[in-house]
Amino acid sequence: MNMAQEILDNSAYPMVGGDGPYSYARNSNYQKESLDSAKKMMNELIDQHLHPENHLHSMNPFSNSFRVADFGCSAGPNTFHAVHNIIEAVENKYKSLRMEADMPEFHVFFNDHVNNDFNTLFRNLPATGRYFATGVPGSFYGRLLPRSTLHFAHCSTALHWLSKIPVEVTDKNSPAWNKGRIHYTGAAREVEDAYSTQFGKDFDLFLRARAQELVPGGLMMIVAVGFPDDVHICESSLGENFNVLGSCFLDMAKMGIITQEMVDSFNLHFYYPSPSELKTLIEVNGLFEIKKIEKLVSSIANKRVLLDVDACILHLRAVLGELIKEHFGEGVIDILLERHREKYIENPILSDERYIKEASYAVFLKRKIRVTSRRNSI
Ligand SMILES: C[S@@+](CC[C@H](N)C(=O)[O-])C[C@H]1O[C@@H](n2cnc3c(N)ncnc32)[C@H](O)[C@@H]1O
Repeated sequence: MNMAQEILDNSAYPMVGGDGPYSYARNSNYQKESLDSAKKMMNELIDQHLHPENHLHSMNPFSNSFRVADFGCSAGPNTFHAVHNIIEAVENKYKSLRMEADMPEFHVFFNDHVNNDFNTLFRNLPATGRYFATGVPGSFYGRLLPRSTLHFAHCSTALHWLSKIPVEVTDKNSPAWNKGRIHYTGAAREVEDAYSTQFGKDFDLFLRARAQELVPGGLMMIVAVGFPDDVHICESSLGENFNVLGSCFLDMAKMGIITQEMVDSFNLHFYYPSPSELKTLIEVNGLFEIKKIEKLVSSIANKRVLLDVDACILHLRAVLGELIKEHFGEGVIDILLERHREKYIENPILSDERYIKEASYAVFLKRKIRVTSRRNSI
């Protein structure tokens, strides 16, 4: 795929836009909590690994701009918190080195799919004048910015979105055909393997693209949703949630509201890696030094979002509404979520804190200055 094709890639259904009651902007507290818990660590890691005295940002002697990009920014407001935290940490570092006079100007690139609600994003841009803002449409699984121009890459709660559903999962002749299910949770081993392979390929593309865009020594913070090494998704409330959602689709097929064929061909694009999986994939990719991979502490407020049935239904609608509308048509989402709501209340796993096993992992990377392996020249 060339760069122009990537930028025009329209095959994704982003979060519900605008700032109405069903919008992502109003139903993304869960993701905001992850950013909040990553803030202190990001501050410390930027303090340790950013070296302004090496003139990281002085490729051009006439400009001292420090360029930050948020990949998978959605329509706000979380991306503004993330950007605020990054800029504050960089400024702190300059101040601690008594380099206030060299304080850079900040240029922030907001990336998401072309059909993201960039209008809402830019309408709500904080009026602090602290940075110059630019929208960058396109898939983050390809190149989006010129070579060696970026100083800090950020990506939060977005990499579990695969670039596509693995083909085997919808192929009737494959052992990985996921008939009657909408996710790999509880499915045959082959289905999970197909998802995991797709995640590996996608993550490698993401790292390669960022390695080209970042300056040598440039930094990257990823907040990824995943499961601890010893936990399988099917033991968790998240996995159970997908099973229940799948069963609601099957009920609707039995009632004749949608067809069985529609259910069989629908799969959610999400894959949740373990920290060891992330570590192995980053090492095999070879373009980044791993500075830290750490589980973020989940706050009580975060758990409340997951356990409160109304918040959970609103969150599902904000994240999956567009995707479901595209596949099943208008009108299905209300019936689906009402059914899901009833089953949620009946199912003890979904409202029991002990089954919240997914976690957010902060992954802090530094773009290698020199890459020795031939596979990985930047
Ligand atoms: C759950 S939202 C997270 C938004 C924001 N980072 C936050 O923390 O609230 C995931 C976002 O990633 C975007 N996304 C998913 N895959 C993407 C891709 N390949 N390229 C660009 N954006 C993508 C989605 O469109 C969505 O807006």
